[in-house]
Amino acid sequence: MPAPRIETPRLLLRHWRQEDREPFAQMNSNSEVMRYFPQTLDRVQSDLFAEVIQIGLEERDHGLWAVELRNDRSLEPAPFIGFVGLSVPTWNASFTPCTEIGWRLNRPFWGRGFATEAARHVLRYGFQVLKLNEVVSFTSLLNARSMALMERLGMTRDITEDFDHPKVETNNELCRHALYRISDKKWANSN
Ligand SMILES: CC(C)(COP(=O)(O)OP(=O)(O)OC[C@H]1O[C@@H](n2cnc3c(N)ncnc32)[C@H](O)[C@@H]1OP(=O)(O)O)[C@@H](O)C(=O)NCCC(=O)NCCS
Repeated sequence: MPAPRIETPRLLLRHWRQEDREPFAQMNSNSEVMRYFPQTLDRVQSDLFAEVIQIGLEERDHGLWAVELRNDRSLEPAPFIGFVGLSVPTWNASFTPCTEIGWRLNRPFWGRGFATEAARHVLRYGFQVLKLNEVVSFTSLLNARSMALMERLGMTRDITEDFDHPKVETNNELCRHALYRISDKKWANSN
């Protein structure tokens, strides 16, 4: 089943369109947005990533949804502000196999609660529709904004589960990652 669209009060989480590629490439070339990734992406890499993401949404019941800002008192509607969604890491770690929640919003759209709003609805979909037992998230220990978002979502970190990301060079300052988890039971108790 293709992933369904998800509506929130201010946002639409939808499949990707050709027109998303330009703002996605702009976002992926922004050094602030990409601060906690090993490198920024050029246009070719960004377009390929968008293509892979869209194929995923067509083939599976989950993926990284394109996020559209429908209306917000403080901002004009914006057809593409980034992505939020669920994915299954393809590498091995002590906590895999697992389902991960992840996000990337363009810089002008930080600080307004859009990532929290989108992620809350994605968690709801993951637990209520997909019947997941647990969702995890992880990020570089340096990425305070992403960890704050995980905590707003009710996810919890056990520092004994911090890990070196297998896709990041061990001498890179971004290598060490925090792992956050939320179970279906914890989610149900807080919703
Ligand atoms: C991670 C990321 C999505 C977090 O963005 P964010 O703007 O901090 O998170 P939210 O959209 O949930 O917004 C929360 C902020 O908006 C404020 N806010 C305003 N209105 C709000 C509302 N209605 N609801 C919730 N928060 C609101 C909050 O107080 C908070 O402000 P603060 O940052 O000053 O504490 C963003 O930094 C990003 O895309 N980073 C680059 C990509 C990245 O690193 N991804 C993670 C890799 S693992």
